[in-house]
Parts: sequence; structure tokens; C-alpha cells
Amino acid sequence: MSARIIDGRALAAALNAETARRIAASGFRPGLAVILVGDDPASTVYVRGKDRAARAAGIAAESILLPADTSEAALLARIAALNADPMIDGILVQLPLPPQIRPRAAIEAIDPAKDVDGLSPVNVGRLFAGRPFLIPCTPLGVMKLLAAADVSISGARALVIGRSSLVGRPLAALLLTADATVTIAHSRTRDLAAECRRAEILVAAAGQPELVRGDWIGSESVVIDVGIHRLPGGGLRGDVAFAEALPVAAAITPVPGGVGPMTIACLLENTLTAALARRDQPARGQPGRG
Ligand code: GUN
Repeated sequence: MSARIIDGRALAAALNAETARRIAASGFRPGLAVILVGDDPASTVYVRGKDRAARAAGIAAESILLPADTSEAALLARIAALNADPMIDGILVQLPLPPQIRPRAAIEAIDPAKDVDGLSPVNVGRLFAGRPFLIPCTPLGVMKLLAAADVSISGARALVIGRSSLVGRPLAALLLTADATVTIAHSRTRDLAAECRRAEILVAAAGQPELVRGDWIGSESVVIDVGIHRLPGGGLRGDVAFAEALPVAAAITPVPGGVGPMTIACLLENTLTAALARRDQPARGQPGRG
């Protein structure tokens, strides 16, 4: 048997079309500012992708490119100006940041009402309290992939490998809110293979190429691969050894074409959610928010 492929590209295209339709019907253009400090090649590609997708959906997107030696004070001043700008509904500071800037200082400077990354303390707190507002884009994308693949989450044993603020921790909170029995594995976990074999939903967000091997995966398990790694000789790999997992798992996301496109699609949806909330309009069809 071969695993069912969960197509993130198709799902992201459908979500983007729906977001564009809702924006066109709203009578206004949400504004999104994406700040990139420095010229990290991967971050430059991501920011360009976010800008392009946002414009295509009808969002007034603005990329703010700051030099690598920008001081923390200068970045915070830029964020304060965007917080005060009525045309801006969403602010995202692309990570990682250069060493002279504390990422926490940047994230905490963003008005929680405009925090479309969902990383500010207010939004993290709401998420862990089970009352989410703006949800980090990658974990939100993973939940939408599971829903689209008709995966039953309530009561399922879910394993999240990785405890980052961007993915592992918020995803564990979302799975818990959806009534999964959640385990978070990390670099100190003993016998990761055994933890994986018990999982019915396995999400790999460890940042290690092909960490999860085929014989770690149960035959009924759904595998979501958040990792993306460029091989020295070209080609992309995830955190899961895809060729080994394919004959074993029940369903799996590919790399590329799985989680990646959903991250951007969820950023656009979050921008609309923030814009509607700032105009005091309920986000219709978004249960569990507010
Ligand atoms: N760097 C890699 N992924 C992300 C993300 O989702 N948000 C931000 N701000 N930076 C990132």
C-alpha cells in the first residue's frame, strides 16, 4: 500500500481563492507590512513569496527591507510607526533576525491586533487558553491540512517533534484544543523512534533532514512534514525520509508542496482576520476565534 498524498498546493490555492473572494466582498483592502532585516537568501525568497501572494489576493502588501546593521531601536521605531498606521492591518517581522536584535523585543513590540504571525504574548496566551485569535501560520496550515484530509483528531495520539515558538509549541496547543492526546518530542526525548511508532498523527518540525525513518512510522499514521532542507547537490528534503515513509504511512504531506504553501495562505487569511477584527466585523466561517 502507498500512503495517500495530502496536496498542500491544491489546498493553499483553494484557501487563497476564498480569501481573495472574501476581500473582494469586504469593500476594503487589508494592509500588510512584512519587515526583512538583512539579506538572508532563504528569508528573501520567503518574503518575496509572501508579498506576491498577498498582492494576488487583493491585499495592499508592503515589503520593508532594512539593512543588516539596523539597530534594535530603529526596528522598534519602525514597528511603532506601523502600529499607529491606520492603513496597516498586519505586521510580520521575518525571522531569523541579525544578532544585534532580540527577536522577543521585536515580536513583543507588534500590536497584538496586527500580529498576523500570532507570536506576540497576548496571542500565544489566547491560543494556550483555548481561545485563539491570530494563530501562527504554519501550525494553522497543519490543522487545515489535517481537516482537509478528513483526519479524525479527537482522541488521537498526536506526536509533535520540535518545540519551537513558531511551530511545535503552538501546534501542540491547537491539537490539544482539538482533543488530541498530545506529546511534544525534542532533542532530549529518549527513544524518539518508539514515540513515533505510537503516534496516529505524527508532525515532524525538528529541522533535521530525514530524521524520521520509514520503520518509525505506524501503518495507520498520518504524517505531516514541516521540514524543508536544501541538499548540497540540489533538491529539497523534509524532516521525514519520504521514500521510506510512503509505502508505510496512511497519508503524508510531500516536500515541497505540503505544509509550505499553506503557511503563506494562512498569513493571507490572518491578515483578513485582523482587518475584519480591527473594523469590528466578525470573521464569518471562522469558528473558535474571538
Ligand atoms: N521564518 C520562517 N518562518 C517564519 C514565519 O512563519 N514567520 C516569521 N516571522 N518568520 C519566519
